[in-house]
Amino acid sequence: MKDYASRTPISKALYQRAKRVLPAGVSYSIRYFEPYPFFAAKAKGSKLYDVDKNEYIDFWLGHTALILGHSPRQVMVAVKKQLENGTIYGTSHEQEVALAEQVVKMVPSAEMVRFTNSGTEANMYATRLARAFTGRDRIAKFLGGWHGGYDALHVGVKPPFGLPESAGLTQGALQDTILLPFNDLDGVEKKLKNEQPASIIIEPVLGAGGGIPVEKEFLKGLREFCDRKDILLIFDEVITGFRLAPGGGQEYYGVKPDITVLGKILGGGFPVGAFCASRKIMERIDNITYKRPKYSFHGGTFAANPVTMTAGLSTLRILEDGKVTRRLNRLGDKIKAEIQQVFGRKAIDVQTTGVGSLFNIHFTKERIKDPQAAFRADKKKAFDYNLTLIANGVFFLPTHSCALCTAHSEEDLETLLRETERYARHAK
Ligand SMILES: Cc1ncc(COP(=O)(O)O)c(C=O)c1O
Repeated sequence: MKDYASRTPISKALYQRAKRVLPAGVSYSIRYFEPYPFFAAKAKGSKLYDVDKNEYIDFWLGHTALILGHSPRQVMVAVKKQLENGTIYGTSHEQEVALAEQVVKMVPSAEMVRFTNSGTEANMYATRLARAFTGRDRIAKFLGGWHGGYDALHVGVKPPFGLPESAGLTQGALQDTILLPFNDLDGVEKKLKNEQPASIIIEPVLGAGGGIPVEKEFLKGLREFCDRKDILLIFDEVITGFRLAPGGGQEYYGVKPDITVLGKILGGGFPVGAFCASRKIMERIDNITYKRPKYSFHGGTFAANPVTMTAGLSTLRILEDGKVTRRLNRLGDKIKAEIQQVFGRKAIDVQTTGVGSLFNIHFTKERIKDPQAAFRADKKKAFDYNLTLIANGVFFLPTHSCALCTAHSEEDLETLLRETERYARHAK
C-alpha cells in the first residue's frame, strides 16, 4: 500500500477531486480499490499509463473488452476515417448491416442481430424477448452469474445470495427470477421441477463469479433439459464471445443457445452490446410483422452508431479465422499453469481458473467448481497480490478475472511471472 501511494500522488489528488462529484469517486463501483484507484492518462498496445507517468502492463484490458490491446492500428485507421464521416446518423447505414452479417457468419446460433450500447442493455432486451416469445414472466439464472445491472438479472450475484444485490429492486423483479446452482444439473432439474420459466441464462465461463468454466456435460445436459421443457436457453457471451473461439463459447463447447448476448470485444474498444437468435425468435422485434401485444421492443439513440460498428467490424475481421484466438488460448493455458507452479513452489495454496485467454487467481486449497467455492477463497490475499503487482507495473483489477490480448509480448508475460514469483517469495 505504501509503495502504491508513493508512486501515485497525482492520482491521489485526483481521487479527492473525484469523490466530490462522483459517488465513491468512480463511475462504476468495481473500479474502486483501496486506497484509491490510479487515474489513467493514456493507453497503447498492452500498456496503460497513469497521470503520475507510471506504466502498467494491462491484464484487465477494459473489463476484458480489448482482445487486440489498446488502440490497435488497423481498427484505429478505420475509426479515424469514420470519425470524419459522422459519429451518429440516427438513421440506417451500411456499417450496421455489415457488422450484423459478420456476427451471423461467426456466431453459430445467430441468424439475426440487434445492437445495443452495453451488455446490460442487451441482456435486458434479450430477457424481454424471451418473455415475449414464450408469453411467460418468470426467468432463471445461475447463482454467481453476472449479466449487468438490469433488475430481473441483478439477483443472486454475490453472497449473501439471500440479500438483494441493490436497494431499489422491486419484490416483483426478485420473485420473477429463479436462482439455479452452477454446474449442477440435478440441482437445476430439482429447482425447476414445477416451473417453466421463459428462459435460463448462463455465462459459458462465469466472469465476475470467479472465471469458472461451465462443464461441457453440464451444458449439454442443460440444452437437453431446455428442449424437453420448452425453455429458451440464453448464453450471455459478453465476455466469452469472440474470445474462446471466433464463434464464442457456443463454438468452443459445441452447444447452441436459443439467444446469444454479446458485448465487449464486439465493440472494438467502443460501447456496445448485441443480442442475436434465430429468425423466428428475433422477428418478434420486427414491428412491421408483429403488432402489440406480440411485438417486443428494442431501440436506442446510439444503437448501432457507425463508430462502434466500424471498430467492431475491423476487430471481428481480424478474429474471424481463429488464428489469433488459438494463439491466445495456448498462451492463456501456459500462463495459468506457470502461475500455479510459481505459487506451488512456495507452498502457497492457489487455484487458477478460466478458459483459454481468460484467467483468475484464487487463494484457496479448494478446487473451484462453482462460485460459492470462489467466494470462499481468501480475497484479502488476492487483493494483496494484485495491489503489490500494480505497485510494480502489472495491472489486474484487484480480485477480478483478467485476460490476454494480442499486444501482450513475451516480455510482458515474463514480467507477470517474475513479479508473481517476487510476491510469492515475500508472501511466504
Ligand atoms: C457476462 C457479462 N454480462 C453482462 C455484462 C454487462 O455488460 P456491460 O458492463 O457492458 O453493461 C458483463 C460486464 O462485465 C458481463 O461480464
